[in-house]
Amino acid sequence: MANDSLKKAAKEIVKKGHVVAFTGAGVSQESGIPTFRDPGGLWDRFNPMEFGTTQGIIELANNNPQKLIDFLTDSINSIGNAPPNPAHIAIAELEKLGLLDCVITQNIDNLHQAAGSKHVIEVHGNIYAFRCTQCNETFKFTKDDFIGFLKKAIVELSSGSMERIVNTMPACKCGGKARLDVVLFGEPVHMIPESYMEIEQAKVVLIVGTSGTVYPVSEIPRYAKKSGAVIIDINPRETFYTDIDNYMLKGPAGVVLPELLVQVKAML
Ligand code: OAD
Ligand code: ZN
Repeated sequence: MANDSLKKAAKEIVKKGHVVAFTGAGVSQESGIPTFRDPGGLWDRFNPMEFGTTQGIIELANNNPQKLIDFLTDSINSIGNAPPNPAHIAIAELEKLGLLDCVITQNIDNLHQAAGSKHVIEVHGNIYAFRCTQCNETFKFTKDDFIGFLKKAIVELSSGSMERIVNTMPACKCGGKARLDVVLFGEPVHMIPESYMEIEQAKVVLIVGTSGTVYPVSEIPRYAKKSGAVIIDINPRETFYTDIDNYMLKGPAGVVLPELLVQVKAML
């Protein structure tokens, strides 16, 4: 049976509309993709200074390619095989009902779009997108093509030749070489003005599955709170947002969000 907070949170969504979902790795955990900072998470197994920075990746490619191959293989296996879960689907459904305006996600896994969400702002990029290192043009590949590129890069990594690795990357029509359009530590995040424009209009923010530790994106829900939005936090554990939460719905997103959706639909 739905608890009191769940019903009250659903009522806010129905009454106010203009929901923005702000999501992190936890929303994809039940799809089989590990989070970053939970025990067994990505940054628990791979040092972020080595695997999350350009400098670290170049050093690994030169000095310890096998470690980079293990990381890339791990990433292909987890993201490449993951389907959207009931949390992504419930968020897409809220958009279809006209209650949710957009999703701002820190995830690169493309699962919100795979679940049917139409308006998704990806502040840390997208795993299937490449960006030209010369003209900055971005282009997106299908999952299969992307996995093909990565497999070729892995083969060349074993050869130890940086030039051969760079040559496996897709070429832009300007002639420049492209790189993955994923934000690494120390790099500027994407679409911050667009995120702030959306969040300014938000009447309700659903914070789903994020620890709220990575600046500057972690500030986005705080800005909404200042403009009077109701904050609903969905997470099995405490987050850094307890000071701004109006509702803390404790539990896995794939369970809580479908329950919330049932309550919302019952009130329409
Ligand atoms: P974290 O790993 O920091 O946090 C994951 C959050 O998900 C934690 O609060 C967990 O309690 C929660 N969680 C775990 N399982 C869940 C479930 N089934 N349902 C709901 N919540 C669950 O991941 P993020 O906050 O996304 O950046 O990390 C932010 C950024 O740090 C990432 O975008 C990435 C990383 O470094 C870059 O790579 C640039
Ligand atoms: Zn170009």
